[in-house]
Amino acid sequence: MEITTKDFGMGATLISLTNKKGVQISFTNLGARVVEWQKEGKHLILGFDSAKEYLEKDSYPGATIGRTAGRIKDGLIEFSQKAVQLTQNDGKQTLHGGADSFNSKLWLYEIIEKPDKASVKFSLVSNDGENGYPGRMEVSVTHSFDEENNWEIFYEASSDKDTVFNPTGHVYFNLNGDASIPVENHELQLAASRFVPLKDKSEIVRGDIVDLRNSPLDFRTGKSLSEALHSDLEQIVLVGGIDHPFLLDEVNLEKEQARLTLGETSISVYTDQPSIVIFTANFGDLGTIYHDKAQAHHGGITFECQVSPGSQQIPELGDISLKAGEIYQATSIYRLNSK
Ligand code: GLA
Repeated sequence: MEITTKDFGMGATLISLTNKKGVQISFTNLGARVVEWQKEGKHLILGFDSAKEYLEKDSYPGATIGRTAGRIKDGLIEFSQKAVQLTQNDGKQTLHGGADSFNSKLWLYEIIEKPDKASVKFSLVSNDGENGYPGRMEVSVTHSFDEENNWEIFYEASSDKDTVFNPTGHVYFNLNGDASIPVENHELQLAASRFVPLKDKSEIVRGDIVDLRNSPLDFRTGKSLSEALHSDLEQIVLVGGIDHPFLLDEVNLEKEQARLTLGETSISVYTDQPSIVIFTANFGDLGTIYHDKAQAHHGGITFECQVSPGSQQIPELGDISLKAGEIYQATSIYRLNSK
């Protein structure tokens, strides 16, 4: 593995790993994020060219999201018989851990080389009471890349007080290699028969779980994203595309949970988490510029592996509480398959 580092601006560093197949993946300590993944010069994901662009345009693409991914209704969490108010940054809700969270922090980093893979381990201390969350937390996120084109994200964290924790990774794929082309021409396969509908435009959960077999959102056997994105399904119309938690039929890191395909290139998603939030970049005509191209509506798709948002309202979704001294661990893998 060839490893290079360079200045990314604003005190951040860009670390690039290139394997023997010539596939390159780059990370930065600003937000412990993935910045670029490319094969033969073609972008597989959305990313900007400098730290400054992330801070000015959008600090979520590719970032580590925490402490809790997605929306917490009214910024209110209840655990250990206590109610805690978090800072609200999305109307009344707390989105992605509140303002200026993991995604915009400068993390420490360490490069680790092993015979079969290279890793960048990012670490951060999140102070007790930050954005309202209890506990001083030590968090690390290790991104690894190997010769078989597996990009793995391993999360590890602990807190000195009982708290909640539910991080994710916010990479957007667009296998067109161009943010101005919608991902509607991609095919999606997803091992989920149920999803979590949203209540209204605030995008908090409605409170129920819905069977989506034989609906436009049933991707179990694989189909074009276009069909779903242009359907008149009320939940699609509500948010202008997909922005929903899909509940995986089987929690199993060994199982291919999702596959995104365009032509001869595909990405497989593996995770030990119970759900994947899929967001199809429903940004309308916002037109954020990525490498000189204005992003189209649906110009990207995320696979945010996590416990589904809404677990405060629907306990069946899982438990995001973390006890003092307990160690949180989670793994997600994205594999590039190509000829
Ligand atoms: C997640 C959410 C979206 C949006 C993006 C950030 O994917 O589900 O609604 O907030 O993050 O732009």
